[in-house]
Amino acid sequence: MQTWLVTGAGGFLGRNAGAFLHSRTQAIGQVRTPATSGLYKQLLPVDLRDTEAIGALIRSTAPDVVLHAAAISGHEQADADHEQAEAVNIHATAEIARACADMGTRLVYISTDSVFSGSTGNYSEEDPPEPFSWYGESKLIGEDFVRELVANHLVVRTNFFGWSDTGRKSVLEFFVHSLRAQQHVRGYPDFVVTSIYAQQLIEAIWRLTELGATGTFHLASSDARSKYEFGMSVAEHFGLDSSLIAREGPPADAHTTSRARNLSLNTAKAAAVLGSPLPTQAEGIRQSVSDEAELAPLIRA
Ligand SMILES: NC(=O)c1ccc[n+]([C@@H]2O[C@H](COP(=O)([O-])OP(=O)(O)OC[C@H]3O[C@@H](n4cnc5c(N)ncnc54)[C@H](OP(=O)(O)O)[C@@H]3O)[C@@H](O)[C@H]2O)c1
Repeated sequence: MQTWLVTGAGGFLGRNAGAFLHSRTQAIGQVRTPATSGLYKQLLPVDLRDTEAIGALIRSTAPDVVLHAAAISGHEQADADHEQAEAVNIHATAEIARACADMGTRLVYISTDSVFSGSTGNYSEEDPPEPFSWYGESKLIGEDFVRELVANHLVVRTNFFGWSDTGRKSVLEFFVHSLRAQQHVRGYPDFVVTSIYAQQLIEAIWRLTELGATGTFHLASSDARSKYEFGMSVAEHFGLDSSLIAREGPPADAHTTSRARNLSLNTAKAAAVLGSPLPTQAEGIRQSVSDEAELAPLIRA
């Protein structure tokens, strides 16, 4: 069995990765503060601002694969603390890349659709990035370190939804919880993404790793949908009241990153290597319905 070290193991994607990997690998996780989890054999505390410590962790655990999911992961959060975003998204990533290069370890770096401007959508791996926020810029600089330093790398640009630790981290949970509480919500019809269900994202990373694929890949849903259309699909699959979703954009005082954008990613390259198309958003929502009873509580625990 391979050893996978997942950074940000206590976060949204980190917990989803643990749920997928724990029966398939010796999965160990890096967390910020001491913790235990049924999803990982071991959780090792390191603050990623301590770059020496994260390098030392990789050298001492000698994993086969590092899945680097830790980040200052939101536009607002990165804007609020530029220095921490620089330390975690850039300097820690660079150190992780150096340690992986030294150890001959495969590095899977989770990047974002927000390396693009969102002015056109359907972005391929060949399209020039043009981040519209410090978050996107810091993730893009992280990508460059990974490509430059580690031959055996996967840079994964994505956007995902699913079940999270807090129940508030994804657009899936936003619609499910709001509609169940009979709350009226804005649908954001002008915000378009190719969001993939988190378990299907990890599975695609797993399959690309089994195939030995390296390079930059867009791992996202095969169909572009507005947030409004996503919400309507959630209502349909969960049997909830779709009339609560208004075809309205953000309020006037919203953060600038909420304005109309098309950040959809073209997944043709990944589909060609995997030999099949990536799932659609509706396929992901369907899997999330069946995962709610067993997987969601595991992720929250
Ligand atoms: N969510 C999305 O749809 C989305 C879209 C595109 C790309 N991504 C990328 O996907 C990856 C995972 O995102 P996510 O949604 O899972 O984010 P998340 O839930 O915010 O998880 C990020 C993790 O990073 C950890 N972290 C942050 N700063 C740290 C530090 N100084 N020391 C140690 N750990 C630190 C956090 O620990 P604490 O919990 O202790 O703060 C958390 O566990 C990120 O690289 C993000 O850029 C996410």
